[in-house]
Amino acid sequence: MTLQPIFSYKILLKSLFSKRNNGKRILLKSGRIAFSYIISNILKRKAIDNIILPNLICDEMIAVTKKYKINTLYYNIDNKLDYDIREIENLAQKDSNIIVFINYFGFKTHHADTKIFKDNYIIEDNAHVLGDFNKNISSQYADYSFSSLRKLIPVLSGSEIYSAHEDLQTQKAFRCPDFGEIKYSLRGLKKNRGGTSKMGHSLDDENFNLSFVDFISKIIIQRYNFLHNNICSQRRSNFKFWENYLSDKNINFMKSIDADNDICPYAFPCYVNNTEEREKWLQWGHAKNITIISWPKYHQDIIKHIPDNFLRKILLFPVNHQFDLNKIIG
Ligand SMILES: Cc1ncc(COP(=O)(O)O)c(C=O)c1O
Repeated sequence: MTLQPIFSYKILLKSLFSKRNNGKRILLKSGRIAFSYIISNILKRKAIDNIILPNLICDEMIAVTKKYKINTLYYNIDNKLDYDIREIENLAQKDSNIIVFINYFGFKTHHADTKIFKDNYIIEDNAHVLGDFNKNISSQYADYSFSSLRKLIPVLSGSEIYSAHEDLQTQKAFRCPDFGEIKYSLRGLKKNRGGTSKMGHSLDDENFNLSFVDFISKIIIQRYNFLHNNICSQRRSNFKFWENYLSDKNINFMKSIDADNDICPYAFPCYVNNTEEREKWLQWGHAKNITIISWPKYHQDIIKHIPDNFLRKILLFPVNHQFDLNKIIG
């Protein structure tokens, strides 16, 4: 069982014969390309003093900010994936900052209404959020937002972006899938599909220049009738499975889905108490062919900002809707 959906040629075929055409979306290649494009748009509007990021963040995002050589400041994320607004207010004392908020693992962060939202450029990272297929992506408070569709639906690439400033390129372009994406698409045909994959989107080969969705994924995104409720309900059921299964295993849970029926989880996030436990669970997943990952992979430049606490011991257990954990583990 993989964390991200397995690509399916059956879905591609069904999409080719579908009459549905939800063609209004502008789709870039990936979340990191969208993030890069958003920063370049902001820099065209205004000089920026700092980019303020959460300290729980993956290396791909840091690699993007390094490209623009903007001074980077970090705010702390706690073990319930919340932050302290006063800390951000202190960091954002100069006027022109970009502040990034991440909706980790599909859980929307609730923000207090303070002036930092008016005085700075806000980016909402919805890479782990499955939006409603009938609506374009938007944001209630941010200047810009982006998704990463391949994390939640079986496509090879695709990131939708939103701008409150209407400064996005409206041309609806696409490209051929690259070698890594084609190779990834074939993984779905293999019987044994454990392990992790970068889906061909490695850090080394990218300069983060504007690049669009591949045409195969574009066809699927525009035409396939993904049933949002079914996807979310299977993901929620898998999430509850881990909550029960891991309840007596000395693992610390970070989030619950009980309070909000709209949460569609990307993964089950938790943390263990020491590195031995972490290795034990990674091996357990490997033996059972269930992709459990240690998240995130920190960029070398930010390691010094990461306290040696739960932030280094987070595990993601998969809730991929293509599988029913009750049938796999039972
Ligand atoms: C929170 C978050 N934002 C952004 C990204 C980048 O998305 P993508 O892999 O589509 O470039 C990732 C992915 O790894 C992520 O976990």
